[in-house]
Amino acid sequence: MTTTAPSPDIVQTNAINEEQQHAFLNRMIGDVGAALTGALVILGDRLGFYKKLAESGPMTSVDLAAATGTHERYVREWLANQAASGYLTYDPMSHRFALPPEHRAILADEDSPILLCGLYQIAQILYTDEPHITEAFKTGKGFGWHEHDARLFAATERFFRPGYNVFLTTAWIPALDGVEEKLRRGARVADVGCGLGTSTITMAKAFPKSRFVGFDYHQGSIEAALRAANEQGVADRVTFEVATAKAFPGRDYDFIACFDCIHDMGDPVGAAMHIRSALKKDGTFMMVEPFANDSLEDNLNPVGRVFYAASTMLCTPGSLAQEVGAALGAQSGEKRMRAIFDEAGFTTFRRATETPFNLIFEAKP
Ligand SMILES: C[S@@+](CC[C@H](N)C(=O)[O-])C[C@H]1O[C@@H](n2cnc3c(N)ncnc32)[C@H](O)[C@@H]1O
Repeated sequence: MTTTAPSPDIVQTNAINEEQQHAFLNRMIGDVGAALTGALVILGDRLGFYKKLAESGPMTSVDLAAATGTHERYVREWLANQAASGYLTYDPMSHRFALPPEHRAILADEDSPILLCGLYQIAQILYTDEPHITEAFKTGKGFGWHEHDARLFAATERFFRPGYNVFLTTAWIPALDGVEEKLRRGARVADVGCGLGTSTITMAKAFPKSRFVGFDYHQGSIEAALRAANEQGVADRVTFEVATAKAFPGRDYDFIACFDCIHDMGDPVGAAMHIRSALKKDGTFMMVEPFANDSLEDNLNPVGRVFYAASTMLCTPGSLAQEVGAALGAQSGEKRMRAIFDEAGFTTFRRATETPFNLIFEAKP
């Protein structure tokens, strides 16, 4: 047996730079602290701690426990973790903890487009369902959206809702060519892959003369969407049906939209073809997708990190569970999406607008 001497490069790679190792260890302690603290963010959100601190100003553990009907000893430990995390500030003189004003939109304001509490609830599902995804890595099989812990659906709705409330009818639709005017006059609209129907209902509230139908293949989501339409008083102009993106009923829609779901589908080209055939000749398709650049190296940033995590645990297994199994992933980017819509026969495709978290595309048949 002959052995090859390691090249100088490999020897150099194996040598430990202690400073670098220390820096990485510190970083990982920060990351594992964040991963463990996530459970406490969910708990604090659920018990109303952030909102109470936002409304009341600095509080002691006794104050916060009394104001939220919880037990002081538990609250004291939670507050210590939150101060160590830098989420709250602590004043040792008064023993008071405070939620800085700059942190409120992220942790305590239900209407803020940067509220991250729903994302923590999604993180909880990633942990809960990890054994299924680990198994899928070995078998190569998919794991459908509908197979996840049922808390995922409301968590996703909560994460996306503030963005839809703030941007959908005020920025995204106005960025499209002539769609806002059509919706004002009265148009036929389909929201495909609508989940719990928040995007559909948001549009229906803004454009009362139009008629909306939301489709999703997941029965539980459609049932929740129907309840939401009734509760929010828009059932006269919104309906929801169980249907896949490749087979939803109806023709001659003026406007069809897909919110954060095309990349979750097994056959995005098939879905795009069906959408094109269901649109009027002068109709418009809008697709909202997670923000992504075209190259992996350009997505190696904090937002890309969040989306690649969700993509590994939710979007990729979800697509692999469906026919074709294109598995675009949540960071597919504009170039890949343009190719899909070209292949499906759309004549135009453009980035209409964007936010730090979303790309909004417009395509015409
Ligand atoms: C990330 S969720 C987004 C839900 C919703 N659009 C929103 O913005 O809250 C993806 C949705 O796509 C739906 N979906 C996935 N594949 C689908 C398909 N082939 N046909 C219809 N819906 C599909 C899932 O059931 C899920 O509700």
